[in-house]
Amino acid sequence: MAVIEVTHPLVRHKLGLMRKKTISTKDFRELASEVARLLTYEATKDLETEEDTVSGWAGPVLVEKIKGKKVTVVPILRAGLGMMDGVLDLIPSAKVSVVGLYRDEESLKPVAYYKKFTSKMRDRCALVLDPMLATGGSVSAAVDMLKAAGCRNIKGLFLVAAPEGIKRLQDAHPDVDIYVASIDQGLNEQGYILPGLGDAGDKIFGTK
Ligand code: PRP
Ligand code: URA
Repeated sequence: MAVIEVTHPLVRHKLGLMRKKTISTKDFRELASEVARLLTYEATKDLETEEDTVSGWAGPVLVEKIKGKKVTVVPILRAGLGMMDGVLDLIPSAKVSVVGLYRDEESLKPVAYYKKFTSKMRDRCALVLDPMLATGGSVSAAVDMLKAAGCRNIKGLFLVAAPEGIKRLQDAHPDVDIYVASIDQGLNEQGYILPGLGDAGDKIFGTK
């Protein structure tokens, strides 16, 4: 299992803007999408291609195309939706599978409330989207659900991760690669990532 911290200057710059306490909903939402787009570029580097022949301006041309069934993106509701547009900008034909989970504020345990997967999960690469990998409970539960549906090729894309959450996901699902814009210091007593972004769902949806 690989943990890839995407340290491209554009990612570091955009994430720095997202950390500002006074950021507007509009700016946070736009930046979440932009960083997700950059993570997608890294996370799709190993997609398999196959040869194809197209009619070019000067005759037949050997080209490459992505092989196999279309990718499925898997936003974890709610906050994962804030990354979805950015990912779909690069993979516009991807199928969307949705997992609804929230973290109980007292126990910090994930509570599942919705699931809708596309067909043939066994044959697709799944990109799980969640801005925050905190304790790792939510994403581990989402991966459990994907594996129960037959999915065998799963990657997680996060804006910010705590070392505790990375360890939990690695222990539970060592086959899942992690792509993250920043690995932060750790969790506070309430299970929030420090320095983190605060409550990403609230910032994306303008709640609270
Ligand atoms: C947040 C976040 C993750 C989860 C991370 O969601 O978007 O899904 O917490 O925490 P964990 O790694 O400790 O499980 P939240 O429960 O706040 O729901 P929301 O997306 O509806 O805001
Ligand atoms: N969920 C968030 O939105 N932020 C955190 O720091 C942890 C969980």
